[in-house]
Amino acid sequence: MAQNQASSSSNSNDWKTALNLPKKDLRPQTEDVTNTKGIEFEEMYLRRELLMGIFEAGFERPSPIQEEAIPVALARRDILARAKNGTGKTAAFVIPTLQQVDVSKPKIQGVLLVPTRELALQTSQVCKILGKHMGVQVMVTTGGTTLKDDIMRLSEVVHLLVGTPGRILDLAGKGVADLSECNVFVMDEADKLLSPEFSPVMEQLLEYLPSNRQVMLFSATFPIIVKDFKDKHMKNPHEINLMEELTLRGVTQYYAYVEERQKVHCLNTLFSKLQINQSIIFCNSTNRVELLARKVTELGYSCFFSHAKMLQAHRNRVFHDFRNGVCRNLVCSDLLTRGIDIQAVNVVINFDFPKNSETYLHRIGRSGRFGHLGLAINLVTYEDRFNLFRVEQELGTEIQPIPQTIDKSLYVAPPGADEPGPTRKQQKQGQQGQQTPQSRGQTPAQRAGQPAQLTRQQPTFQQQQILNGYQQQQQQQQQTPVTR
Ligand SMILES: Nc1ncnc2c1ncn2[C@@H]1O[C@H](COP(=O)(O)OP(=O)(O)OP(=O)(O)O)[C@@H](O)[C@H]1O
Ligand SMILES: [Mg+2]
Repeated sequence: MAQNQASSSSNSNDWKTALNLPKKDLRPQTEDVTNTKGIEFEEMYLRRELLMGIFEAGFERPSPIQEEAIPVALARRDILARAKNGTGKTAAFVIPTLQQVDVSKPKIQGVLLVPTRELALQTSQVCKILGKHMGVQVMVTTGGTTLKDDIMRLSEVVHLLVGTPGRILDLAGKGVADLSECNVFVMDEADKLLSPEFSPVMEQLLEYLPSNRQVMLFSATFPIIVKDFKDKHMKNPHEINLMEELTLRGVTQYYAYVEERQKVHCLNTLFSKLQINQSIIFCNSTNRVELLARKVTELGYSCFFSHAKMLQAHRNRVFHDFRNGVCRNLVCSDLLTRGIDIQAVNVVINFDFPKNSETYLHRIGRSGRFGHLGLAINLVTYEDRFNLFRVEQELGTEIQPIPQTIDKSLYVAPPGADEPGPTRKQQKQGQQGQQTPQSRGQTPAQRAGQPAQLTRQQPTFQQQQILNGYQQQQQQQQQTPVTR
């Protein structure tokens, strides 16, 4: 083992020069991620193979939550950690979990639980990227996929299991997933996993793990419900709270006071005025997601949509394609409110104002990832006025009325600092993120690769469905009009 420890590498730094490092992200960052003690990953006694994965992921030094959590987690303490959105909580639990995996042992040694399938896919990807040089076998398992495929996969070696609680319990209950030597149990978005919807499953799942397991809970929001779980299932947990202030410093928040029937028009104006790199637009119900996606399409803008009632294969495709910058705008329900990390998203729009502060915080945290700049715009109706006030009070933040013009320097990376995703390509082509009448039908990535004269919209596969007008959609429209 000793030769695996980077700290004991007395020879050379050859391995570092051989690293395949990504291009540096030169965008400005806020203190949410820069306010560190100055600890380096190399001082954390991590395996060299793991360090290689960390550096090749573009992580130069730990963020505040990583500095706080990783050393404690490596000492096998239980942890209850709270840190702001987009500040690197995933790596804060993935790194110590990977470090504890013995790849020569063909057993599940860590379970990482998350509340949604998309987040499971994303988190398993982080495990694979960071563990790339370790030979670690990561399996992702969620509802909405064939159980048989999971059973087959579990007949091969799996070291880390990432997934949603129901499916993992199913596999453990059937005796297919052997958790008897699983020493690490992580709950990401822990407060969500402890909500009444998931809590009984979590309780049952824990019974399949050894009693000396390490339990780690992470989230940006920890309501009181977590206390019961802590008292019952955690041993003298080390508590970390990096949230004296709750909202992200890089995210500017505005509201526009509108009537319900003006919302689509207002969104249209925002699209034409803002410099959107990628945007996520939240609605409060699946019906409204589909209806708004239809309106956006009719306005001539390109958009995807996603919600929990869609087929999993469609959800996956939307998530995958949106991440890859195939489309500029995504209309969705709270399915994608938590944990989703798409660095290219610089604008979040609450088409419907959320019902509680936690949801609001997680939603606006989809922009301004890793201390970058972002913009959150809330369309607020007369009915929302008390909610708006409550969110401001509970989060100790100010949501200002939207000004006539929004200063781009508040949410667009300055020239020279590479934006991730679509913009990088656009910048090469001299194109910016504003959605003009000429460009609005095209996706950023498509635009970058298209000849200049090609301006007609290529409908996304979802838009094609919308335009074809399937029955369900018709019925839904009658039930819940987006504009009255
Ligand atoms: N040390 C680091 N250096 C550079 N980038 C990092 C580092 N750690 C994490 N990141 C990047 O920061 C982004 C946000 O990380 P992550 O998704 O883990 O945030 P989070 O705290 O879990 O947010 P949320 O509360 O929204 O789930 C990711 O794109 C990740 O790759
Ligand atoms: Mg997260």
